[in-house]
Amino acid sequence: MQFTVSNFYGTTFLVIIWSIVTEIALELEAVPTPSQHQLEANAIIQSGWWNYSDPEGIDPQNICTWPSIFCNTDGSITEITCPSRDRWSKFASLNLSVFKNLERLDVINCLLEGTIPPEIGNLPKLNHLDLSYNSFHGEIPPSIGNLTQLNYLSISNNQMQGSIPAQIGNLLKLTHLDLSYNSLDGTIPPEIGNLPKLNHLDLSNNSFHGEIPPSLGNLTQLNYLYISNNFLRGSIPCELFFLKNLRRLELSNNYINGTLPISVTNLTTIKILDFSINNISGEIPPYLGLPSLVILNLSSNNLTGTIPPTLQHISDVDLSFNYLMGPIPKGFTELTLVGNKGVCSEDLYFQNKYEIQPCDNKVITAVLNQTKHNLVIAFPILIFLIIVLLLLLYLRHVRIGNKNKQAKATTTTKNGDLFCMWKYDGSIAYEDIISATEDFDMRYCIGTGAYGSVYRAELPSGKIVALKKLHGFEAEVPAFDESFRNEVKVLSEIKHRHIVKLYGYCLHRRNMFLIYEYMEKGSLFSVLYDDKDAMELDWRKRVNVVKGTAHALSYLHNDCSLPIVHRDISTSNVLLNSKWEPSVGDFGTARFLQLDSSNRTIVAGTIGYTAPELAYTMAVNEKCDVYSFGVVTLETLVGRHPKEILLSLQSTSSVCELLDQRLPQPTFSVLMDIIRLAIVAFACLNPNPSSSPTMKCVSQCFLSELAPINIPLHKISLQQLMSQELRHYLKL
Ligand SMILES: *[C@@H]1O[C@H](CO)[C@@H](O)[C@H](O)[C@H]1NC(C)=O
Ligand SMILES: *[C@@H]1O[C@H](CO)[C@@H](O)[C@H](O)[C@H]1NC(C)=O
Ligand SMILES: *[C@@H]1O[C@H](CO)[C@@H](O)[C@H](O)[C@H]1NC(C)=O
Ligand SMILES: *[C@@H]1O[C@H](CO)[C@@H](O)[C@H](O)[C@H]1NC(C)=O
Ligand SMILES: *[C@@H]1O[C@H](CO)[C@@H](O)[C@H](O)[C@H]1NC(C)=O
Ligand SMILES: *[C@@H]1O[C@H](CO)[C@@H](O)[C@H](O)[C@H]1NC(C)=O
Ligand SMILES: *[C@@H]1O[C@H](CO)[C@@H](O)[C@H](O)[C@H]1NC(C)=O
Ligand SMILES: *[C@@H]1O[C@H](CO)[C@@H](O)[C@H](O)[C@H]1NC(C)=O
Ligand SMILES: *[C@@H]1O[C@H](CO)[C@@H](O)[C@H](O)[C@H]1NC(C)=O
Ligand SMILES: *[C@@H]1O[C@H](CO)[C@@H](O)[C@H](O)[C@H]1NC(C)=O
Repeated sequence: MQFTVSNFYGTTFLVIIWSIVTEIALELEAVPTPSQHQLEANAIIQSGWWNYSDPEGIDPQNICTWPSIFCNTDGSITEITCPSRDRWSKFASLNLSVFKNLERLDVINCLLEGTIPPEIGNLPKLNHLDLSYNSFHGEIPPSIGNLTQLNYLSISNNQMQGSIPAQIGNLLKLTHLDLSYNSLDGTIPPEIGNLPKLNHLDLSNNSFHGEIPPSLGNLTQLNYLYISNNFLRGSIPCELFFLKNLRRLELSNNYINGTLPISVTNLTTIKILDFSINNISGEIPPYLGLPSLVILNLSSNNLTGTIPPTLQHISDVDLSFNYLMGPIPKGFTELTLVGNKGVCSEDLYFQNKYEIQPCDNKVITAVLNQTKHNLVIAFPILIFLIIVLLLLLYLRHVRIGNKNKQAKATTTTKNGDLFCMWKYDGSIAYEDIISATEDFDMRYCIGTGAYGSVYRAELPSGKIVALKKLHGFEAEVPAFDESFRNEVKVLSEIKHRHIVKLYGYCLHRRNMFLIYEYMEKGSLFSVLYDDKDAMELDWRKRVNVVKGTAHALSYLHNDCSLPIVHRDISTSNVLLNSKWEPSVGDFGTARFLQLDSSNRTIVAGTIGYTAPELAYTMAVNEKCDVYSFGVVTLETLVGRHPKEILLSLQSTSSVCELLDQRLPQPTFSVLMDIIRLAIVAFACLNPNPSSSPTMKCVSQCFLSELAPINIPLHKISLQQLMSQELRHYLKL
């Protein structure tokens, strides 16, 4: 009985289970939904972006094998990059609604046009969206605010219109937002200040108006803020100076007014400040010129007052076209102050060249001019100034008297056949140099340059200098003599951290020599070819040597009164000091570029470093230095002259195999920099010089943050470098 009962229950149980199972099976058969994979495949095929008339190595049935498409293990698409095409397509022809697993949509420069459809907001997992360098128009759909996983968003270099949707403030994970080079207008939405992780914000070159929202001061992680070339008004919100991590702040070419607040000095990590072409008034805050600041551009504003001497610590300053006044402090090139009527100079050359007034009484006149409309205040000052003026005139009178009595030993010595000029240290004398080198004894000779020999001299003060001496017979050869004079001319005009400092020179019947700052470690060439030194010059130092050289060349090409082309950049002419910091030397063949002449000349430079096109056309332009810089960079990375690489005998190798094997393999963080250097080097060695970057561009690329390179670094091949396909990572 018991058995029967339990058997009954058991059978019933089995029947119920069976019916549930069949029910489920029927249910599944009854509604056949297309798989996610199939939906995505249809969308890809219908988009028409891909053309498979030549399906080599591609399974036309399996989109996951198609180039520029990446799938997860379930066969659902996670990444779409730009397929190679030769004609324009509509962005909207890709049905964006289906890609539930898409994490990365990267279609830079992809011949896409049309509008950005609102369905873009239906990509729940998207974290990287790059639509830059296409031809999109229309407005940014507000649904973009649904992409809450997004950390990278760029729509730069399109023709987008309308304003930025406030929903952008929902993208709480965003680190990089680039909407530059579009036709966006309206105001900058304050909601951008809600993006706590934002590191890079570029809104430059649009038509934004209104004021800079103070909420940007909440972006504590911000390193880069670019809002140049818009129509922004009002003053700089002081909240911007809360941004403790800011490295570049560019507001150039807007209608910003108000003053530069003293709190600008709170930006302790800032490297580049560009406020040029605005309406900023008031005085330049004292103490500006922080240790980190490299470029300060206040050109074309309405600034008044005098020039704070602390600014001379910044390597690139531009204060031109303002209403500044007073004498130009030591260490400034007059060019940075062109267009300031109240500024005066003691240098005759600049007085003539830029019509800058001599200093004598100009300061006082300027101060008087400024105060004369307020006579009540001015009167006592006037009396005081007249007394000062009389005092100055008296002192000047006395000084002129003295000058006639004793030659101006501090700057120039001239007697008989000797002419010396000391720029820095008035206490050195010709005799000291002769005795320090025991009349140029070979024991003190440390090298032989393109012309003449280089000697090391320890002066009585303990200071060590390098002397480049032209031999007596060489001085008779016009070409050598000209190199010598050329070097004096060029080096007297320039001042840069990475250009060798000329302290002075002497012209004497027997001895013609130049006096330089002494560079302890000698030339980069000698260091690279000495195993011990080469190993001491580790990867980090090598990266810095190349960067310093780039900054020096950018300075020569762009920031001198006339562009200067060095024409003989080689590892022998990059010198290293005791801290392994580089300075470019040997300006014997350097040339000022006359912008209006054809700049044709005989070929100068060292074989193996000269751009091939120069040899054919004989044209002198900055690109000769760019090419040589490419060779120097490569030589620094591989540790020997990169002849074979340039002949592309080993183009299949990976970059890491080429690196100087005497050093340990670089760590990841340095490798990043090395790859950047390699990309730059090959861009500079571009056989078509018009496609090679300018030194300014190279120098700026070294100052900016690297965009992540989404290829395993150690796999980057020489082939990829030579084809220049990685250049866009550096915006070269
Ligand atoms: C596809 O590519 C082939 C050559 O690769 C070309 O001839 C053809 O016109 C292309 N088709 C379309 C629709 O663009
Ligand atoms: C895009 O895909 C979605 C989801 O599959 C579908 O509902 C919609 O009709 C598709 N749109 C177009 C234009 O094909
Ligand atoms: C997407 O964004 C639109 C516009 O902002 C909004 O109306 C919609 O509710 C959002 N959809 C989702 C799923 O969040
Ligand atoms: C953001 O900035 C605004 C304006 O400066 C301020 O009122 C607000 O409290 C800030 N929000 C946060 C989260 O700091
Ligand atoms: C944006 O850039 C383009 C091309 O460089 C230029 O023609 C245009 O004038 C710029 N717009 C603004 C507002 O500066
Ligand atoms: C700048 O720093 C000073 C001193 O650290 C501080 O008192 C001031 O509030 C700061 N100003 C801004 C705008 O951050
Ligand atoms: C500066 O302001 C004046 C007067 O408001 C205006 O005429 C001028 O165009 C402005 N200049 C710039 C560069 O914003
Ligand atoms: C700055 O410009 C705004 C309008 O653009 C004006 O209201 C304000 O008075 C100006 N401020 C100064 C200090 O000139
Ligand atoms: C400063 O800005 C002006 C205008 O934007 C530009 O022409 C100039 O080259 C800049 N100066 C430096 C040193 O970059
Ligand atoms: C710029 O400064 C000059 C001279 O100080 C002054 O005449 C002019 O009104 C100022 N312009 C603006 C817009 O502040």
